[in-house]
Amino acid sequence: MSRRRQIYEGKAKILYEGPEPGTIIQYFKDDATAFNAEKKGTINGKGVINNRVSEHIFTLLGHIGIPSHFIRRLNMREQLVKQVEIVPIEVIVRNVAAGSLSKRLGIEEGTPLPHTLLEYCYKDDALGDPLVAEEHIACFGWATQEEMQDISAMAIRINDFMAGMFAGIGIKLVDFKLEFGRLFDGDFSRIILADEISPDGCRLWDINTNEKLDKDRFRRDLGGEAEAYQEVARRMGLFPEGGLSEVLDLDSERKKRGK
Ligand code: TMP
Ligand code: ASP
Repeated sequence: MSRRRQIYEGKAKILYEGPEPGTIIQYFKDDATAFNAEKKGTINGKGVINNRVSEHIFTLLGHIGIPSHFIRRLNMREQLVKQVEIVPIEVIVRNVAAGSLSKRLGIEEGTPLPHTLLEYCYKDDALGDPLVAEEHIACFGWATQEEMQDISAMAIRINDFMAGMFAGIGIKLVDFKLEFGRLFDGDFSRIILADEISPDGCRLWDINTNEKLDKDRFRRDLGGEAEAYQEVARRMGLFPEGGLSEVLDLDSERKKRGK
């Protein structure tokens, strides 16, 4: 596993060279960070769950015509994806006020927004991923206006689909983060969905109790983060018939053996 060439290690994932040119292997770690990696920890089994959750959502999005980098899941912690050039913009989609929006504008957390709000952050850890306007994106050439049209249209469709999917399992999709990439074909490129969609980058609240089922449990020291991720996976029906505990047991055994 570790003999493959590592391309990049991020906060929650490692990227390895894939088996064919133009492919990459995404390895999902249990490491969790918050506040630009000021806070560090691990959430047991998170990588296994995020790998599955992201596989499931990307596959369903593919069925409604959203192109993505996802090719197939390889094992518990890895998936094969298409190599893309990541657009250096984090797209935040919001349905309900929370987090930095609430802080910045003084809007109480939990206030439903009159319509879906898209925000853009420039991906730069040294700068703390600052919020930017579309004008900055165009001005500094981080993405073209045509690319931003594709990105915003896809983000809205992804939100409509995911909000419905989560509502169906008793979860309110408060907000989430998306990343997109350029897939090259000769000189041409097109925008496709990249990275991952998982409880790391979504705010997911129980529809009845508003209990947090996402990484805010870690960010805000609420405890029960591993259980929250498991609850999301369970409601999504990803590990039927007690399969989740079996998979997690197997995974922790492998971890102990250092594999
Ligand atoms: P925020 O309210 O802190 O700006 O976060 C909005 C959403 O984006 C939330 O669901 C968490 C996600 N997010 C990430 O995935 N990565 C990040 O670096 C940040 C700041 C937020
Ligand atoms: N993962 C990000 C970081 O460590 C932020 C977050 O998800 O809160 O900076």
